[in-house]
Amino acid sequence: MSKQILVLPGDGIGPEIVAEAVKVLQLANEKYSLGFELAHDELGGAAIDKYGVPLADETLERARNADAILLGAVGGPKWDAIDPAIRPERGLLKIRSQLGLFGNLRPALLYPQLAEASSLKPEIVAGLDILIVRELTGGIYFGQPRESKVLENGERMAYDTLPYSESEIRRIAKVGFDMAMVRNKKLCSVDKANVLASSQLWRAVVEEVAKDYPEVELSHMYVDNAAMQLVRAPKQFDVMVTDNMFGDILSDEASMLTGSIGMLPSASLDATNKGMYEPCHGSAPDIAGQGIANPLATILSVSMMLRYSFGQAAAADAIEQAVSNVLDQGLRTGDIWSEGCTKVGTQAMGDAVVAALAKL
Ligand code: IPM
Ligand code: MG
Repeated sequence: MSKQILVLPGDGIGPEIVAEAVKVLQLANEKYSLGFELAHDELGGAAIDKYGVPLADETLERARNADAILLGAVGGPKWDAIDPAIRPERGLLKIRSQLGLFGNLRPALLYPQLAEASSLKPEIVAGLDILIVRELTGGIYFGQPRESKVLENGERMAYDTLPYSESEIRRIAKVGFDMAMVRNKKLCSVDKANVLASSQLWRAVVEEVAKDYPEVELSHMYVDNAAMQLVRAPKQFDVMVTDNMFGDILSDEASMLTGSIGMLPSASLDATNKGMYEPCHGSAPDIAGQGIANPLATILSVSMMLRYSFGQAAAADAIEQAVSNVLDQGLRTGDIWSEGCTKVGTQAMGDAVVAALAKL
């Protein structure tokens, strides 16, 4: 039976990088007889332009019926002045939450070829391989009530709410432990339990879940310390599990250790491993349309899709190998370029990965 993949290019550099990832996906589809059928739709600003909302009901329905979703990025200055309730980002948050994609896997892996591109000294990042497990459908990004209002004295005020239920924490903690079990069996849970009630519950529930994983070495770290440790000694980490906002911030930080946020893929999974796959970076409106964006994070997101949603480890490995081979050839987009390498654009990078994959 054929498998349906919904492609949502989004905004800014989204369409450019997704076009390259789709080439790689199509080739993998043929080469490994995966039986994928691709459909396209819009999300974010592009959806506002087409449907008047950042996630149309019909798009959500298509996403529900798809076996996996490949997403570019959303947002841009064109929609900055829009009613906050229909900002492009709300479409992304809504699709994550409506599809129950609570488990966000963000691997920060340093390709040895890119050690020079990291902002840290090569010896600090050499061999770096961290997995950040971010809770994606709860916490302060979704908590109610949230409000922006004018007080009686005329002063403006706004607030958000950071709620976590026991079951939400338990299920993401399990993802963290499961991932640790297939990696180096170390899990660091990141919270702010010295201040936040939600973090105190987080820590208590993670401790309870730990009882089912006696082989995993569990540690806890406050988020401010974790942010510091990530640049001080990042190799101390194997898997990190954390809430929605902390994971958002720490994954951007971790990306720079690997040379560029342009290298970081992600998977957002539901309880059955159905998933949406997207680069961790945003829509980069400042470089959109110039053909210079790095498509590798999106291409590596395709690899994650094959691995996690379709159990096609060989095809996933091959895509990762193709990316590595292209880096060996010295090809670099501007964000990962260093002296002595060949600077290429988005399309040339995508074509090179396709060529490398075809040869494997
Ligand atoms: C990310 C992005 C999104 C998030 C934005 C665009 C809503 O920063 O995927 O990390 O905060 O989750
Ligand atoms: Mg982010």
